[in-house]
Amino acid sequence: MDKKILEQLRAEYGEAFYLLDSAQFRKNFAELKTAFNNIYPNWNIAYSYKTNYTPKLCKIVNELGGYAEVVSEMELEIAKRVGCKMDRVIWNGPIKNVPIMEQFLLDGGTINIDSIEELEQVKDIHNRHADKLIHVGIRCNYDVNDGVVSRFGFDIDGTEFMEAVKFATTTKNVKFINFQCHFAKRQIAYWPARAKGMVDLIDRLGIIPERIDIGGGLFGKMADSLRAQFSCEIPDYEAYAKAAAQVFADYFADKDVKPELLIEPGSAVVGDCMKFIGTVKTIKNVRGKWIATVLGSQKNISMTGINPPMDVIAMGGEQKEYKDLDFVGFTCIEGDVLYHNYTGKLAHQDAIVISNCGSYSLVMKPPFILPNFPVLDISEGKTEVIKRAENFDDLFHTFNF
Ligand SMILES: Cc1ncc(COP(=O)(O)O)c(C=O)c1O
Repeated sequence: MDKKILEQLRAEYGEAFYLLDSAQFRKNFAELKTAFNNIYPNWNIAYSYKTNYTPKLCKIVNELGGYAEVVSEMELEIAKRVGCKMDRVIWNGPIKNVPIMEQFLLDGGTINIDSIEELEQVKDIHNRHADKLIHVGIRCNYDVNDGVVSRFGFDIDGTEFMEAVKFATTTKNVKFINFQCHFAKRQIAYWPARAKGMVDLIDRLGIIPERIDIGGGLFGKMADSLRAQFSCEIPDYEAYAKAAAQVFADYFADKDVKPELLIEPGSAVVGDCMKFIGTVKTIKNVRGKWIATVLGSQKNISMTGINPPMDVIAMGGEQKEYKDLDFVGFTCIEGDVLYHNYTGKLAHQDAIVISNCGSYSLVMKPPFILPNFPVLDISEGKTEVIKRAENFDDLFHTFNF
């Protein structure tokens, strides 16, 4: 990223935008899959749409043979529009729109049932279409010693879980597809336990499903400056594969059936695939503290409590040396700080380039103060507009004036 490229992009797209790196996304997807395949050959990826549902990325996952992991009818619609076959879509999440779930099941999609109420809804759908085969999975909740009592799925030691298992495995025209789990904490220490939990479960029940899905929650690649701000070690793809896939490779070594194993990464594949570029609009000193206000916001990058990897690109203004300067956003929130205590050179109109903002950024930007900036992809040799800048009408056409 240099001044010349930035000048060209600014001239056409304005002073703030995201850069999507779809080439890096393809690379991450392939590397992560290979890391798990090297230990357990029948391993695939279900991409977590919610993390960054940019259609181009969802399309790439489909092209590369991955599954779509969706958690709402909105995300299901994305999967349809990027051309996913419904049997490549996995619908998780605690609340599902029932009429849409019904059509999804009839179209061959897999629902991971999350609660006893949802089990009743699925039973009802099945009763009304008893001649149609439907695909179901069960979200499993067990302790991986991460200190969290998760609110998702069935407690695998409870009677409701057994009721769901009975329905899924003994009902005519219901095909039991998978057990699924997800644990949010990314530390490697919890990964053997999540794999072991699944292996113990299928061993106890004597059921080998067609697939086993152990969820997302992996760290991705990141700049050293970001890595240094975590108190835990940041594992690479191989380390996660070793921690989880080996448990399954050992368990299935002497079995004839080898189910398809899945992870549901979001951040691990997309985190380093987006940069946010903003422009320094003011530089001031207030009671000894230097503050630069940028077109851009913490709301654009959604990172809190850390300093993101950031480069300042000199754009031609006369730079001065600053110490402990905070980069703050365009909103009226006092705490809208993109970067704390920068020490270095800076000038009005310089660009800041913030890396590692591919996960939970674009999808979590609220329509607060300003519509969102455009998303461009320059990683494949040309400039592709992935998402044009939002405008007033994009946000206000649902209000009555
Ligand atoms: C069920 C499920 N799968 C996958 C993910 C993706 O998580 P991550 O981005 O941490 O990999 C999430 C995130 O909340 C999730 O809830």
